[in-house]
Order: sequence, then C-alpha cells, then structure tokens
Amino acid sequence: MRITDTSDLWWKTAVVYCLDVETYFDDDGDGVGDFAGLARRIDYLADLGVTCLWLMPFYPTPDRDDGYDVSDFYGVDPRLGTHGDFVEVIRTAKDRGMRVIVDLVVNHTSDRHPWFRESRKSVDNPYRDFYVWRKDKPKKSANTVFPGEESSIWELDEKTGEYFLHSFYRHQPDLNVANPRVRDEIAKTIGFWLQLGVSGFRVDAVPFLLAPDAGMDFGDPHEFLRDLRRFLQRRSSEAILLGEVNLPYREQLDYFGGAEGSELSMQFDFVGMQALWLSLARRDPAPLVEALGQRPATAVESQWANFVRNHDELTLDKLSDAEREEVFAAFAPDASQRIYGRGITRRVPPMLEGDPRRIRMLYSLLFSLPGTPVLFYGEEIGMGENPEIEGRQSVRTPMQWDATENGGFSTARPSRLVARPPGNGWAPQHVNVVAQRDDDGSLLQHVRRLAARYRQSAEIGWGELEVLEHDAPAVLVHALTSDLGRFLGIHNFAENPATVTFPLGDEPDGSMLVDLLGDARIEPDAGLVSLEVDAYGYRWFRVGRPGDGRLG
Ligand code: NOJ
Repeated sequence: MRITDTSDLWWKTAVVYCLDVETYFDDDGDGVGDFAGLARRIDYLADLGVTCLWLMPFYPTPDRDDGYDVSDFYGVDPRLGTHGDFVEVIRTAKDRGMRVIVDLVVNHTSDRHPWFRESRKSVDNPYRDFYVWRKDKPKKSANTVFPGEESSIWELDEKTGEYFLHSFYRHQPDLNVANPRVRDEIAKTIGFWLQLGVSGFRVDAVPFLLAPDAGMDFGDPHEFLRDLRRFLQRRSSEAILLGEVNLPYREQLDYFGGAEGSELSMQFDFVGMQALWLSLARRDPAPLVEALGQRPATAVESQWANFVRNHDELTLDKLSDAEREEVFAAFAPDASQRIYGRGITRRVPPMLEGDPRRIRMLYSLLFSLPGTPVLFYGEEIGMGENPEIEGRQSVRTPMQWDATENGGFSTARPSRLVARPPGNGWAPQHVNVVAQRDDDGSLLQHVRRLAARYRQSAEIGWGELEVLEHDAPAVLVHALTSDLGRFLGIHNFAENPATVTFPLGDEPDGSMLVDLLGDARIEPDAGLVSLEVDAYGYRWFRVGRPGDGRLG
C-alpha cells in the first residue's frame, strides 16, 4: 500500500464517533439536543481527532425505540431541526475534515409510518405487500430480540385478522424487502441522503433485513445487499456501508461479500468486543487473542470496526453461558445492571470501578487493535450511565459539557430534559469536558493523543496482525505490519507491572523501537528487546532506524 491509499479507502484509518443529536447539545433551550447545537460542537469533535461522525436516527419518529422506529425515511425530526440545519452540519463537518454517516434503519418502520397505516387497512391495499403478512401465525419462528418486552415476532392485527412480522418491537413492522417497490424506496432513501452530502450509512440490523427466517422468497438475499452496494457506489464512490451484523465471524465474511468485498464495506466486530471483555474480566489477553486469530481474511477494501460498547446493551451473546457469567460477575454484579439475559446496561468507567489505569488501557487497545475505532459519545471523558433510567436508555444521557446541573447540555429546566444526567459520582460536576479540556493528564487528552497517534500509524488500520510470544502471560504484544512500517502495541491486562522480552524480528540492522506515546528509544540487545510495562500499562511503538523517516 501507499500512504495515499489511505485517502481513497478513508474508512480504514478513520476515527468514528457515534452520537445522538437529541442528547448532544441543545441550542434552543427546549431540553432536546438539535442540529444547530451539534453544529456548535463540530470544532470540539475535530479537535478530538474524529474523522467520521455517525449520527443515530434523527428522522421523524414516535420515539418508542429512541428513533429506531422511523415514520418518514426522508424527513428530519422537527424537534431536532430542519433539512437546512442538517445540511449546515454536514457542510461544517466537511470543512473541519469530518465525514458524516447516518443510520439507515430499513429493516422495519414505525407502525405510524404512512406505508404501514395503509398496509394494515385491507388485504388488497396497494401497500399490503410493503410488509410481511401471514394468515396464520407461523409455528416455527425465531426468538424475539427483546425477551421480557416482547414474546413473539408475529403480531395479530385485528383489522384484517392476519399476523405481521416484527423482528424487534411490535410497533416496528418489518418491511418486505422481497417487494421491488420496497427496494426502490430503500435505494431512493440512500440516494436522498447521499445527495444531501453524507458519506455513507451505518446499516441497522443487517441479518434481519436479509430475513431468511421469515420464509421470504427473494432468491439469494446477499444479491439484494450487493445491489444496494452497487447503487451506493454508482451514486458516490467514497460512500460506505458500516453494517450491524452480530454473527459469528465465518458468517460475517458473507456480509462483506467474501473475497470480492462486494457487500458491506465495514462491520462491527461484536465477537472481538465480547472476547475483549472476557479478557478484561480474566486479566488475561488469551480470549481476545483467540478471537482475533479467528477473524477471517477479507478483501483489502473491507474493514473491521472496533468498539468497546455501543448505544445498546453491551451484549455478551456470543460468549458461552459460563463465560458470560464471568463477565457479569466482574462488571455487572447487580442484576439491575443486566438486560435480556445477555447484556450490560452500564458504561465503561463504572464497570471498571473508575480505575483510570484500566480505563486508559482499554481505550489504548481500542485505538491499536487492527481495524477502525468507533467511540460512543461521552466515552472520551469517561461518562457513566444513569442507573435510574431503565434498560438500554441508561447509557444515552446528555453529553456532559460542563459542571452545571444539566452538564451544559441545555438551559432548560432539568425536568424538561430529554434525559437526566447521572447524579452520583458520575454527575456533570465530576465528569465534564471543560474540566478535562486543559488538563494534560485527563482521559479526554489521553483519547485525543491516541486518536492522533492512530491517525499517524496507518499500519493499525491496514497492517497484518502478529501476536508476539514472550513470557509474561498477562501482557499482549501485538505487531501490525504494512508496507508503510511496523507498529507494536503492548498491553498489560494485570494489576502487576511486568517485563516483556521478545525478538525484534526480521528488521534491518540498527532498527529500534520508537515510543509513540513518550520519548523512549529502545534498542535491541542481541536481537531481543526488553521493556517494562506498568500495572494495566500500555505502550505503543514504531520500528524504525535513523534516517528511514520512521522515528517520529
Ligand atoms: C439495532 C439498534 O442498535 C437498536 O438500538 C434498535 O433497537 C434495533 N436495531 C432495532 O432498530
């Protein structure tokens, strides 16, 4: 690869930041975040090192699933602003070197969507086939995604006496993507937002969208995804699809479009994320190493998106029952911190009992594991969840900008806020941007530094992974090598300092390790390098030698 390839395949070295406009910054003081507010925070995001914003759904919605229940694919929720405000954000972000991708939620609509209102009217309504209807409730069907909140994925609709499919909540009927008219609408939706300037989409619930479970007959479901990708790329050569596909690795390969890379451009690494938490619980990198070793090889254009938690429950569904219990016991000891029998409703710092060493080590991993890091807003300052808010919403509280009661998110009365910040040790008074902005030792500055070094180390996004052997089992030493160079990351999962010694490998004479987070230069002794790593410590190096331009 050449360094200039990183601009064509920009997503492979991006820093992605997910936020919900509703909870980010409220410009008009009504208690709800808005696009005008986000526009005022673009410089903050640019300064942090974000290069790609992912906006959670901002479309008109009855808001029964935080906007994932869309009632107009082409609209903007009037509480958040107008199309004009949206375009202003895209344009300002572009000016500051940031692309914007938006959530594409087309597996289902809200039941208030005009298509569904029509569809449920009669069996011969022109919109009937926009959704999936059955005369009888299928005897065999998949389990609901939300146990305890839903009991089935089929719902009887009184008006016509038939059942409709809803993979998620009953107020989210699944679209029938076997219907060419529905496919046209999905393509038009993609075309519409591209025309307004977005650089791609985070695609919601992809395996459900391809829905083989519902017995739909539309040939090879992956052909539909390939079609979408072809359409996307005809409209915009730089646009990407970042897919939510929580499946075992070997199935994910199909969603990339195999060796061709003809379907999703990127996928979240759910398996790696869960293995990482098991590693943290065990203070042993082995589960993470095993997971990374199982990642299938992909086309050069395809990329893994790494994350440590997202806006949903921190799912542990890919772990065995015993492994999940280990992670629960370590990080969500109270039943109220768990949901659906599989996930955790806490943010990272409370899970790690506020231990700054572990928190920093975790984000160091996020930015140095092979792939593209994705942050959930507020992670950069160590926001905690509000345990008084039930379920998945507990982690979706307003961004904490300053130490005032509303965290500087809004001037509205606290009772009017879209969500209340936590009130305990994680309150805005203790955790906020202003307090950390000029403090060199803050988490915010740590994440900012990691983002900058990651951007200067294209090997992380592009390189070939090698896990180096040595004799300190709690320490992960990984190398990422590309034509541009060799990056080394060292992470200590345990609470004791360690010394690691390993061969530098096949490098030209005079090569040494150049510290990327400090100013050390470590020269090998008889081909071996030996270095110290603190308790829960982390170190980043590049291999270089004088005169090769890699010492910086
Ligand atoms: C996945 C989203 O991340 C989640 O928040 C939502 O509830 C479901 N898809 C349904 O859209």
